[in-house]
Amino acid sequence: MSNETKIVSVDLGERSYDISIGSDGPVGAVLSGLDVKRALIVSDSNVAALYLPWCRKKLSEAGLEVSECVFPAGEPSKCLETMAMLYDAAVSARLDRSSVVVALGGGVVGDAAGFLAASYLRGVRFVQVPTTLLAMVDSSVGGKTGINLPQGKNLVGAFYQPVEVDINLDTLVTLQNREYRAGLAEVVKYGVIWDADLFALLEQRTDDLLKQDPMLLADVVARCCEIKAEVVSQDEREGGLRAILNFGHTLGHALENILGYGEWLHGEAVSAGMVYAAEVSVAQHGLTRVEADRIHDVLQALQLPVQWRGPNGDVAWSLVLDAMGRDKKTIGSVLKFVLSDRIGHVDFGCVVAEEALAEVFSG
Ligand SMILES: NC(=O)c1ccc[n+]([C@@H]2O[C@H](COP(=O)([O-])OP(=O)(O)OC[C@H]3O[C@@H](n4cnc5c(N)ncnc54)[C@H](O)[C@@H]3O)[C@@H](O)[C@H]2O)c1
Repeated sequence: MSNETKIVSVDLGERSYDISIGSDGPVGAVLSGLDVKRALIVSDSNVAALYLPWCRKKLSEAGLEVSECVFPAGEPSKCLETMAMLYDAAVSARLDRSSVVVALGGGVVGDAAGFLAASYLRGVRFVQVPTTLLAMVDSSVGGKTGINLPQGKNLVGAFYQPVEVDINLDTLVTLQNREYRAGLAEVVKYGVIWDADLFALLEQRTDDLLKQDPMLLADVVARCCEIKAEVVSQDEREGGLRAILNFGHTLGHALENILGYGEWLHGEAVSAGMVYAAEVSVAQHGLTRVEADRIHDVLQALQLPVQWRGPNGDVAWSLVLDAMGRDKKTIGSVLKFVLSDRIGHVDFGCVVAEEALAEVFSG
C-alpha cells in the first residue's frame, strides 16, 4: 500500500468536510483544531474486536478522553433499542456540545452513530471511520443517518454531515469476501451513472479488483468518493440530482424486501437491479444493447448476481410491483426510474408504464 493519503473535499459551505483515503488514516485529524475534549467511539461487535484499540489509540494521541459503546453486529441492531443504549452511553461519557461521536464500522454503525450525533443535545460533531467498502464509497459520505423501525427500513433519521471521513483501506483485508464484492456493485454504479472512464477501468481490471489490489483500490475508492461528493454538493437533501444514486435500487430494494433482508446483501440486490434497469433503459431510454451487455458482464465478472428475478429466478412480478409501490422513494403512485442512455450518464425521474416494466421483467 502506498502511504500517500488522498483527500477528497465535500463542498457544502459551512458544513464542508474532507474525506481522507489511505492506510492508517488520520482519525480525528481535524479535531485538534476544534477544541474537542471527549470522544465516544460507536462500533459493532465484529469491528470493535479488530479495530477498536487502533481507533482508541489514535484519538488518545490527539489528546481526547475516549469512551466507547459497542452493539451486536448486523442490520437488526439499527433499531430504537440500540439508540436507547447509545443515548445512555453518551450520558455516561458526559458528552457535551464540544464532544465528538466517532462511527467505527460499516453502514449500520455509521447510520446509527450518525443519528446519535444528529440528535443528542440537538447535535454534536461526528467523524466517520468506515470499514466496509459500501460504507467507504457510499454510506459514510453525504450525511444520511438513521435507523429502521419494525415497519420499514430507514424510516427515522436526519440529514447530518460528519466533520471528517477517515478511510483506512487496510481494514478491508478482514472484511468477508462476499461483503467486499457487494460493495463493488456500488462502485460499478458510479461508473454507469457518472464516469465512463471509471467503468472501463473496472471492466479491464476485474481480477485486480477482486484481489483488492491496493493502488487500484485507493484510486477507485477516491474516484467514487469524488463522484458522491459532487452529487451531494449539488443536492444535499435529495431534492433532485441525488436520485441518480438510486440507479438499480428501485428493483434492488423490492428484491431485498421480498426475499427477506439477508438472503441477498444490499449490493447483491442492487447488482441484479442494475442489470434490470439497464434492460429497461434499452427498451425505453436509448441505451444500446452493447452497453447493457457491458453492464451485465462487468457485474458477472465481479461475481455479483445478474438474475433480476431473484437467486432462483422465480420471484413473481406481482410481488415486485407491490414492493416497488411501497418504496418510500415512490412519489404518489407513479413509479419513477433512473435510466441510462449511455454508460457514464443517467436521467432520474423517468416514468415508465407498468406494462413496459412487466415485459422487461418477464424477459
Ligand atoms: N447513509 C447512507 O447514505 C447509506 C447508504 C447505503 C447504505 N446504508 C446503510 O448501510 C447499511 C449496510 O452497510 P454495510 O454493508 O456496511 O453493512 P454492516 O455495517 O452491517 O457491515 C457488514 C458486516 O461486516 C462487518 N464488518 C464491517 N467492517 C469490517 C471489517 N473491516 N472487517 C471485518 N468485518 C467487518 C460488520 O460487523 C457486519 O457484520 C444498511 O443499514 C444500509 O441501510 C446507508
